[in-house]
Amino acid sequence: MKSNDSGMRVNGSRLLEDLEKMKEKTETPGKGVTRFSYGAMDREARDYLRECAEAIGLFVKTDPVGNLFFGFPEDKDKPVILAGSHIDTVQNGGWLDGIYGTLSVLEALRRIREEKAECGKTIQLVVFAEEEGSNFGSTLTGSKFLTGKYGTKDLDSLKNQEGVSLGEILAKEGYSPYDSVMLLDWRRIQGMLELHIEQGPILESHGVGLGIVDRIYGMKVNEFTLTGVGNHAGASPMKGRQDALAAAAAGILEVERCGRELGEEEGVATVGRIQVLPNGSNVIPGQATFTVEVRSANEESIHAIMEEILLRMEEICNKRNIRCHYREVAFSKPDSMNPRMVALLEKTATRMGEPYLIMNSGAVHDACMLAPFVPTGMIFVPSIGGRSHVPQEDTRPEDLIRGADYLLAALLQLADCK
Ligand code: HGY
Ligand code: MN
Ligand code: MN
Repeated sequence: MKSNDSGMRVNGSRLLEDLEKMKEKTETPGKGVTRFSYGAMDREARDYLRECAEAIGLFVKTDPVGNLFFGFPEDKDKPVILAGSHIDTVQNGGWLDGIYGTLSVLEALRRIREEKAECGKTIQLVVFAEEEGSNFGSTLTGSKFLTGKYGTKDLDSLKNQEGVSLGEILAKEGYSPYDSVMLLDWRRIQGMLELHIEQGPILESHGVGLGIVDRIYGMKVNEFTLTGVGNHAGASPMKGRQDALAAAAAGILEVERCGRELGEEEGVATVGRIQVLPNGSNVIPGQATFTVEVRSANEESIHAIMEEILLRMEEICNKRNIRCHYREVAFSKPDSMNPRMVALLEKTATRMGEPYLIMNSGAVHDACMLAPFVPTGMIFVPSIGGRSHVPQEDTRPEDLIRGADYLLAALLQLADCK
């Protein structure tokens, strides 16, 4: 391995091996990676991280909602540079989302240990719990608790599809969410860096291997429940039906139209999940519940698009004599990455002789929650075919290793290592 002033590098085969092992920790083998926070596969993944960390003498700490911290115990008084991502996934998701950034930081810590690099600041790996919101519908849950956006009341209000609250799940998992405090000592933290797959087509279409994120989209998720009158699908004439699913279908097309018309190039609107009751082929649906998600780099656009969607949904429901109810499920503001961090990342890529693109992130990330508190940066590597959140999610091994090398070089810079 080269020394750090000529550019310390990660052990690429070891990183790829870790990624392959984590790929197996899925509830849906052969159909992508499904690893929700607080489930059996999450526990296996956490155990694996703990084993790797303990093998190089790192401490491991868990906060009340399951965020993990790993670091060098001997550095307890040094200022901290946080780096990390998440290990949970969407249903039938990809093998790299979140876990790639997490394992790349672990590999960076291994290399710093192996090279006995001396650093003025200490680098800590942070793993954010429930980033995807797969359990409770609210993305960035772990980092929202860490940054005080969520508190004790949310332990009770966040409920999964079976109506079980986050607090109950955490208690069952052996955490003590109600009587412990979040771990972050903000006075010591001087920066945060997240490495992630792009999850979109931009880097690949430009043929560039590294992305430096300057702004992360915000997002708002509302859950709509449309209620009509269930009835027999055969004996009920078409006239006078109050079909909740037909109304939802009309509404969902309006969501797409609003995204197209109002999103300019910086806004998107999606309906990703729907539940129909009673969901029988011979019953007129009495109820349809679905999520509407609006994202943009610009907070006003998020609210404007959601307002317009609400207006159109209510118009459709009035016309069809359907009751329309909605509740906000999640919200995170868009935010810009720290300009000094962006400049450092540009300099680092140039020093490595690597071309890069400055770009937005349509995906939300925990880095966005930390950005208001500490100088935060984000690095992307290309996604093959621009796909993510699906079993086809993939990135070329050389791109994965280049991204991890780049992260390591930036961390050595940030932590004043020599
Ligand atoms: O939905 C997102 O943007 C992220 O993957 N949680
Ligand atoms: Mn992610
Ligand atoms: Mn994701």
